Amino acid sequence: MRASVLFLAAALARFTQAVTPLVIKDAGFFSNDEQFFLVGVGYQPGGPVELDQGVDPFSNLEGCQRDVYLLQQLGINTIRTYAVNTTLNHDACMSLFAAAGIYVVLDVNAPGWRYSVNREEPWTSYHAGYMANIFSVMEQFSPYPNVLGFFSGNELANEPKNANATAPYMRAIQRDMRQYQQAHKLREVPIGYSTADVVEFRQDLGFYLSCTGDDEGHSDFYGINSYEWCGDTTFEKSGYKTLTDLMKDVQMPNFFSEYGCNEVLPRTFGDANAIYSADMNTVFSGGIVYEFNQEANNYGLVDVDPKTGDAKILPDYVTLRDVYSKVSLPTGNTARKISRPKCSDVFPKIKAFDARAAIPQIDDITKLIKTGVKVTAGQLIDVDLDLTGHKWTITDVSGNQIQNPTITRVNTWNQVPQGAQTTGSNDSKESKNAAVGTKVGGGHTALVFAMAGLTTLGMLVGGLLVI
Ligand SMILES: *[C@@H]1O[C@H](CO)[C@@H](O)[C@H](O)[C@H]1NC(C)=O
Ligand SMILES: *[C@@H]1O[C@H](CO)[C@@H](O)[C@H](O)[C@H]1NC(C)=O
Ligand SMILES: *[C@@H]1O[C@H](CO)[C@@H](O)[C@H](O)[C@H]1NC(C)=O
Repeated sequence: MRASVLFLAAALARFTQAVTPLVIKDAGFFSNDEQFFLVGVGYQPGGPVELDQGVDPFSNLEGCQRDVYLLQQLGINTIRTYAVNTTLNHDACMSLFAAAGIYVVLDVNAPGWRYSVNREEPWTSYHAGYMANIFSVMEQFSPYPNVLGFFSGNELANEPKNANATAPYMRAIQRDMRQYQQAHKLREVPIGYSTADVVEFRQDLGFYLSCTGDDEGHSDFYGINSYEWCGDTTFEKSGYKTLTDLMKDVQMPNFFSEYGCNEVLPRTFGDANAIYSADMNTVFSGGIVYEFNQEANNYGLVDVDPKTGDAKILPDYVTLRDVYSKVSLPTGNTARKISRPKCSDVFPKIKAFDARAAIPQIDDITKLIKTGVKVTAGQLIDVDLDLTGHKWTITDVSGNQIQNPTITRVNTWNQVPQGAQTTGSNDSKESKNAAVGTKVGGGHTALVFAMAGLTTLGMLVGGLLVI
């Protein structure tokens, strides 16, 4: 291991912070003892293409450098990524996001019939091969301390008529994921589900996924993809008040896993103000705006030319940056107390679908949970934040090229200060990382942290902040 030098820099971005693994307490996410609100955007450069061409969102360092710069300037602390390919190496990009103080909520599914559930006939797609890919995502990404959570599924039920067929699979997949986590002693990254905002079942599905039963199939959190707030509207008129009232009764943390209606253009993102306000912040832990990259569906903030890597900032980026720059996150703890119901109490009351249907269980999957999957576990590495060699260009909304973009480092790791504490044990996997952070300064402004990484020698060394 190299000599110890603590690299310290102050963050400019307001919400970025040490990427200490978050934990859930009551209905909130916490970093150490401080409540965490997701201020995010969806991030899937290249769009939802099949990931068999040797690239995915975290495999191309040049692209990640450009986007981490843009995301940090946007003022976010979280991205949601919809699909990755674990045959690729993600250490450099994930380290770059970690260095910039950005968390990732990751969907464990991927496009293609082998890697996702067929919502009309889920029994045809739920098998050991399908779960093997999910387990490999967990093995590879759990060691990164900035992985905030895993989505077991996204909009598996998207209309009332497929809720019956799909709901038992949501619990089955979450059960398998949780059992895998325990069997292989992975970091207990929270496992949740991202639902479509379908009025007929959004609350009932929340009840269904929140309850604890014999199957360990519950969600740790519930994301909702909601496009109700369109144009110039209000908390009451948009439907957000109704949604908040419904989700208040769902006994787990909630957040917007997608938001940002584009039916009225240009978007003004007025809902961002509502989401973090007292009207909603006891129920929702923030949200994720859909989405960073421009695609045919026209939700993008930035238009990237896939050939050259050149990026154009779109007007919505500027609007969202201004909105996020004025949002004030709640101070103190606003997470409501929750108490998880028992499934046996909840299921008889669910009207939207047959909640009492059996949860599928497949022997090959049970075996796979025991034997495990082979994949390279991720780890944070030294990463160069210097952008001077970049080949891409970024132009602003007026067409001017941005000069000397720089990324601000918020976190360091694998730096071993003199007298560092040993906090770990030897029984963990070789690349399992943990992080400790010590906050300096107040509010959400100048945060400086040190992190600890587990070296390949298997010794966890706690990084202590020296300033
Ligand atoms: C990952 O890439 C490999 C090699 O191209 C491919 O065989 C595999 O199907 C891809 N996995 C996913 C999840 O797309
Ligand atoms: C869902 O299953 C229940 C119980 O079997 C049934 O009564 C209901 O009609 C089904 N709903 C749909 C939309 O198929
Ligand atoms: C790790 O293993 C080494 C060698 O077996 C031992 O000396 C050390 O005390 C162990 N450390 C911890 C934290 O268990």
